[in-house]
Amino acid sequence: MAVRHFLTLLDLTPTELNQLITRAIELKKIQKENTLFEPMKNRTLGMIFEKSSTRTRVSFEAAMTQCGGNAIFLSSRDTQLGRGEPVEDTARVLSGMVDCIMIRTFEHSKIETFAQYASVPVINALTDDYHPCQLLADMQTFQEERGSIKNKIVTWVGDGNNMCNSYINAAKQFGFKLRISCPEGFEPNKTLLENNKNHAQLIPDLAKAVSGTHLVVTDVWASMGQEEEQTNRAKAFASYQVSPNLMDLADKNALFMHCLPAHRGEEISIDMLDDSRSVVWQEAENRLHAQKALLEFLMTA
Ligand code: CP
Ligand code: NVA
Repeated sequence: MAVRHFLTLLDLTPTELNQLITRAIELKKIQKENTLFEPMKNRTLGMIFEKSSTRTRVSFEAAMTQCGGNAIFLSSRDTQLGRGEPVEDTARVLSGMVDCIMIRTFEHSKIETFAQYASVPVINALTDDYHPCQLLADMQTFQEERGSIKNKIVTWVGDGNNMCNSYINAAKQFGFKLRISCPEGFEPNKTLLENNKNHAQLIPDLAKAVSGTHLVVTDVWASMGQEEEQTNRAKAFASYQVSPNLMDLADKNALFMHCLPAHRGEEISIDMLDDSRSVVWQEAENRLHAQKALLEFLMTA
């Protein structure tokens, strides 16, 4: 059978994605009960990081350890990748040594090339264009708190970045309506939006975009690699802050999510993460459980 990769949410069918979320919830229960569950025994995950990470690194590494396997952290600073060894070569070499490879990098095309040459599953742990692993955790969190997200309304606030693009894919795969509220010039990928116009629409007016919604999501104004644009972006995004007052416009059972790290006083008010509608800590923990389900799907299916 052809090896499966997880480069975007479109690599799995809607049915597979929903099964994965159900499985993530089961695996969370197994862990909370302290039941030994080691489907990854003698398996190794290679983890290539070309950008910083806290949650992604720790959740993948802990997931492998808890499932009886092992993870190897590979930074571009101290591997030959950082000295120019082609990804095509690295992909073939690592495929002979590990059972699955996770990559966090800049250009999305790099991970596509890597996957083309790899003979083991490749997981996108964030590129400039997509962050699908985060969406698994977000979808798990919504399911746990409010049940199915199908036919619900989700509002993305702020930058049309990698997280926003992944929310567009999620709208298609999980069947919700996505409203995107961005300042002019910071909209998500045009083609992606055009191809998903049945379930994703731009609503620059923030109050209108949040009105009656079931989930509000935001992210930093300047992503990794855009640090030099921070000052300009802070001006452009100034009126796109999520606060408890803004959340009051949403549905009375609305939730708030943020992939983290968050910048209090920028994309969120200083008190937003402590608001009762915020589920960000549960969302962060669910990275662990959702990725266990993903690793199990890719490596033991
Ligand atoms: N949300 C997320 O991916 O966090 P890290 O950058 O810490 O991995
Ligand atoms: N959009 C952010 C997400 C961080 C998890 C970034 O790419 O830096």
